[in-house]
Amino acid sequence: MLSNQAGEGKRASLHGHWSSKMAFILAVTGSAVGLGNIWKFPYIAGQNGGGAFVLVYLVCTVVIGMPVMMSEILIGRRGRRNPVATMELLGKEEGSSGHWRWVGVLGVIGGSLILSYYSVIAGWTLGYVVKSASGVFVGASVEAVGAEFKNFVGDWRIIGFCHTLFMALTVFVVTRGVERGLEQAVRFMVPALLVLMLVLLGYSMNSGYFGQGLSFMFSIPESCMTLAPECPLTWDSVLAALGQAFFTLSIGMGAIMAYGAYLPEDTSITGASAAVVTADTGIAILAGLAIFPLVFANGLDPADGPGLVFQTLPLAFGQMAGGVFFSTIFFVLLSFAAWTSAIGLMEPAVAWVVEHFNKTRAQASLLIGGLIWFIGFGSVLSFNVLADTTFLAGTLFDNVDYLTSSIILPLGGLLITVFAGWVMCRNSTADELGSAGTLYKAWRVLVRFIAPIGILFILINAIT
Ligand code: TRP
Repeated sequence: MLSNQAGEGKRASLHGHWSSKMAFILAVTGSAVGLGNIWKFPYIAGQNGGGAFVLVYLVCTVVIGMPVMMSEILIGRRGRRNPVATMELLGKEEGSSGHWRWVGVLGVIGGSLILSYYSVIAGWTLGYVVKSASGVFVGASVEAVGAEFKNFVGDWRIIGFCHTLFMALTVFVVTRGVERGLEQAVRFMVPALLVLMLVLLGYSMNSGYFGQGLSFMFSIPESCMTLAPECPLTWDSVLAALGQAFFTLSIGMGAIMAYGAYLPEDTSITGASAAVVTADTGIAILAGLAIFPLVFANGLDPADGPGLVFQTLPLAFGQMAGGVFFSTIFFVLLSFAAWTSAIGLMEPAVAWVVEHFNKTRAQASLLIGGLIWFIGFGSVLSFNVLADTTFLAGTLFDNVDYLTSSIILPLGGLLITVFAGWVMCRNSTADELGSAGTLYKAWRVLVRFIAPIGILFILINAIT
């Protein structure tokens, strides 16, 4: 078997290694924790009716997300190249085909498309840093906060400028490679974000509507428990939940594979994955628990969409003692969280251009960044000039989001599980996961049967 040769002659990465296991966990956590947890999870859960959606999301995270994440890391570490080259190399090495590189290509495209709108929303958080600091939210009414948001996103020049600023910051870090400073940033940012989420949670618990928020998030209609036809959860919602699990964990597009390429041999892939999945899911749930009581306390609509966080949290901060301070810090931290994620979103494309076209990191990130910046204007305009131009899934922004979260990520995840479970031989995966014990067997059952069949089943049901 060719694969055994790879197992013995371990490859070195072309881009340097993480300084430690902790550094790797921090980097992956930094990529996972972002707008997906705090901005996207609450509004998607709100649009899909709460409880039943949250349950499906949690099940998808454990049963599909976790094994896919482990697969991506192990593939990345074994290949030690950019996702495109890694898939091609391992595909050949495992006696299959170099065409597996298309999985990497799909990831490069998916990541770039996600970043095109991610940067726009991250631009909003930058804008909200300034708004918070200016004190406009102090004692503001629901209507005032809502109007503030509508005016803000209604002006394409302002949010276009914020998007430009955010992309520039992202390109700046990516140019400099795997950065020590980034590890430091994540080490501080994630705990600080956690503390501020707890402050918000405390406020929500005292809003008098905590019970209502809790029940919105966790109570499941009787009809769904018995799988009766009256259950309001549609296959579209199930696909949205699956897509959200992929999106928030940064999986399905080779980003984690790219990070895995820099992982030292002796790090436990299972342990690292479990840590990241726990932190990421915990922060999303916390965000939901902080936001939904505020939604109900202020008579807002949980299905309001992408503006949800920007219309609830400033309201809460505006009524808190020290609100200007907390609110400013919160949006600074959220911008940081988005920044560390954006870097991860660009990494597969940049690593690929560097290796494939023989460019410097700076050239590659300017090229890719410029392209993504340009595409991002489609999303900038979706909230103002082109707000009424809708097709298929909605505005241009809605379509890019649907195409990436609901199609590209699950499809990428499906192909990754098939590759790790069926194409790679047992020896290769057992070698990377470091055992052939019970845990390994469980992973293999999940990755060979449960995850691919589950993804396929959901995709087919939702699309037909
Ligand atoms: N997980 C990120 C978030 O929740 C977004 C994201 C999706 C991402 N795919 C990624 C980040 C790949 C880095 C790499 O905000």
